[in-house]
Amino acid sequence: MTTPLVFAHRGSSYDLPEHTLAAYLRALDEGADGLECDVRLTRDGHLVCVHDRRLDRTSNGHGLVSARTLAELEALDFGSWHPGAVAADGDEPLDESHTRLLTLERLLDAVLAAGRPVRLLIETKHPCRYGRDVERRLVTLLRRYGLAEPRPDDPVQVTVMSFAPIAVRRIRDLAPDLPTVLLLEGLPRWLRLGRLPFGTRIAGPGIGLVRARPQLVPALRAAGNQVYVWTVNEAEDLELVLAAGVDGVITDRPARALARLGR
Ligand code: G3P
Ligand code: CA
Repeated sequence: MTTPLVFAHRGSSYDLPEHTLAAYLRALDEGADGLECDVRLTRDGHLVCVHDRRLDRTSNGHGLVSARTLAELEALDFGSWHPGAVAADGDEPLDESHTRLLTLERLLDAVLAAGRPVRLLIETKHPCRYGRDVERRLVTLLRRYGLAEPRPDDPVQVTVMSFAPIAVRRIRDLAPDLPTVLLLEGLPRWLRLGRLPFGTRIAGPGIGLVRARPQLVPALRAAGNQVYVWTVNEAEDLELVLAAGVDGVITDRPARALARLGR
């Protein structure tokens, strides 16, 4: 059985509010090999780590992320909705790493400062009103950080993911050296033989798809691809993907997955 990489999905997001700096630092402390984040563009062109199109679930704001400026988002609380943002002995929120909006720049600064190898999976969210600008801005930012043309011994290695094949294609065109993941919720007909488009070599099926299609992981791997599965939180799902020999496990609970792997 191979030992897969363990990626913290939106940080250690079971214990702490997703996409906060605190959730990512916790995941690094726990020993995760990598971190997963979603990115969206603000109205004034900044990449921010937020999953939903709307602000309502994970902040005290309302409406669309894409309609707000960075300064407007910086004024919101992105953590107090989650029990992990509150101190155990009271209802005071913990420090701002638990509640502040996380920009992609701050996340990159944190992983570069970690002082150890970190793999970062960045997912561009589509459809959105800014279309290809998301990938353009992302590659520009990664270039500025020296992360768009990776060398094997770089401690921080970025991989870009999307459910949108066109977004994956844009990354392949803009930064051909960046690895990409095509995320899969269902099974498109063209995937039956296990081949991925645009030179992508990593498939990212959801755990529901892996459960429903036991032949999928072997077929993808037999065709020469790696397979990262999301979001693997339950013990039986972890056993399933380990037995299937996946290359990466994306989980809200990295400490649990690492413990199961004896790490
Ligand atoms: O890691 C892939 C996974 O995050 C995709 O689903 O909705 O959690 O972004 P979602
Ligand atoms: Ca995601």
